[in-house]
Amino acid sequence: MAACFSVCRAYVRGADRLLRLCPRCELQAQTGLSRLHRTDFATAAQAVSNTEQTAVSDAKESFSLIQEKRHDQAERSVLINCPPNTNKKKFLAYISKHGDIRNHFFYETYGIYAVVEFSSRDSISSLKENCTIPSLQHEASVPFKSRLLTLSSTATGKKQTGPNAIKCHNLTPPSFDKLINQLSKQETVDQQMQCLTEACQLTEENISLRFLVCSLLRDIAAAYFPDCIIRPFGSTVNSFGKLGCDLDMFLDLDAVSGHDQSKGSGLSLEYQVKRGASERNVTQSILSVIGECVDVFSPGCVGVQKILNARCPLVRFSHQPSSFRCDLTANNRVAMKSSEMLFIYGSLDERLRFLVFTIRYWARAHGITNSFPGAWITNFSLTMLVVFFLQQRTPALLPTLNQLRDLAGPSDKCVIEGNDCTMVTDLSKITLQQNTDTLEKLLQEFFEFYGSFDFGKSSINIRKGREQNKPETSAMHIQNPFETDLNVSRNVNSSQLQRFVTLCKESAWIFQNGDVLKRRSASSSNKIPQWGVAALLMPSVTKSVEAREKRKRRKNERTAERIMSVLQSLKSPAEAGSGSEGYILGITKQDLREAAFPFQGQELRVSRLHSDPVPLTRLV
Ligand code: GTP
Ligand code: MG
Repeated sequence: MAACFSVCRAYVRGADRLLRLCPRCELQAQTGLSRLHRTDFATAAQAVSNTEQTAVSDAKESFSLIQEKRHDQAERSVLINCPPNTNKKKFLAYISKHGDIRNHFFYETYGIYAVVEFSSRDSISSLKENCTIPSLQHEASVPFKSRLLTLSSTATGKKQTGPNAIKCHNLTPPSFDKLINQLSKQETVDQQMQCLTEACQLTEENISLRFLVCSLLRDIAAAYFPDCIIRPFGSTVNSFGKLGCDLDMFLDLDAVSGHDQSKGSGLSLEYQVKRGASERNVTQSILSVIGECVDVFSPGCVGVQKILNARCPLVRFSHQPSSFRCDLTANNRVAMKSSEMLFIYGSLDERLRFLVFTIRYWARAHGITNSFPGAWITNFSLTMLVVFFLQQRTPALLPTLNQLRDLAGPSDKCVIEGNDCTMVTDLSKITLQQNTDTLEKLLQEFFEFYGSFDFGKSSINIRKGREQNKPETSAMHIQNPFETDLNVSRNVNSSQLQRFVTLCKESAWIFQNGDVLKRRSASSSNKIPQWGVAALLMPSVTKSVEAREKRKRRKNERTAERIMSVLQSLKSPAEAGSGSEGYILGITKQDLREAAFPFQGQELRVSRLHSDPVPLTRLV
């Protein structure tokens, strides 16, 4: 099937091509993705208006190729804790005795750390041969030789200054106040959304460090499973990662299975193995042992918890040198496919990422999402909501998952545990429709769309790109894209859903009341007034929602009381014949509808509106 998705290709990886389409765009190569700034989507669309449909650039690297490159970099890297007075030049000269340094950076968490990437893995062996196990005075050390090292120096003195001082890369997002200030300085809402994304997204260095942490853990697991790989998934790799997000990883044992070498001899050998009652049991046992090893052997890993009875068993811990909260699972290949799917969608149109970052931040600022598990909407569900919304645009801004499947070649075929996870990986096969919506319009209409979406009846289905009847009674139903019997948002309860819907309505209302979109200049105190996205993120928005809801509830209660008293004053139906009538001042039909809940089972009819006396009829 030819999926017809031409587009204002605001996001195209090849720089030449991008500049041809959108001369006002700048490109920034980061995180393995090109980043687009200050994009004027309408202008970009005009530039391609002669082309009905546009193919996505073929210069884009595939998801798996990017993962392999990063994995390889991590295997050639070490993490070194440095004293504050370290002289950068001396340090690099000392380390480079073991081989050519391809890349390095410093950051500060609990101390200053250096990530050093060598050109060759041999340099790591050479470096390790020169490291010693520390002898402790009152304790004993576990002599595990990891790639997390400490630099000791006989030099004394204060922190270095000048050209040889260490400059630390930032691993944390800007503070709320700083971000609000940055956003308020922008000229348009579109620029604000791009600015928010640039300020919060994972940096190249942060992603490298995440892969390095996976690689350090692999060194532990490799003691039992030499061919295993620990792969990051989720927001670390799906291009929607925000600075400070957790590190989701899974132990990939696929390469451990081995290959049958028997060809023609008629003989073959296989390993004798322990057996478990089920795949789940085996996963639990492996994670239990690896979790124990991480706890006992792996320096820097603290607070190890084994959560083995969860639907997806995991080991949770903190990696102190990086400050990452880590979740290690096993053989979680479907989740990896979800990450690849989001990566592909994020690569097709940059507007998806700008919208997702803005909506995730908005949701977090108003307590709709939370970093703890609970009945709230997760970031993954929010992202699915945005993808679905963009599939609903006219013309559609994103293809459906079935369309991505239909474009797949033979090598893309992928079935995991009976679930068809096939998707096209060669993005040049995708052509997209021309859609010129600005980010401002998309954001506003996202709020309107979900402020009035019928979550009671309908399920979100990004595979088909249309809503469907809900197959079960959960408050919110988002079909899992690959395990289609599952609901991604099963955890969400009705009160959390209601909060989300109310906040969408309120945000849509704020947008419609155009005041918030007017950029205001700095006051005499030089404080720039919040406007646009900055204003939407302010907690006062929710406060005003809550206050309005409270006012509405109080008004409904008062209306209800008055209706009750009129109803009670009416004659009983038996005495009155077919119906009875009373009068209430100042109550409208709308008031009655909103306050009608206490009168269920009694049909009320109003024949005139507004503040005239309203005849109220109780029908039998
Ligand atoms: P952050 O909140 O930034 O960590 O986003 P995230 O995308 O990493 O989400 P999270 O850490 O909750 O989950 C990690 C990954 O697991 C997601 O990206 C999905 O690929 C997958 N995942 C999360 N929730 C579900 C779910 O309910 N069902 C399935 N099948 N996969 C899920
Ligand atoms: Mg995550």
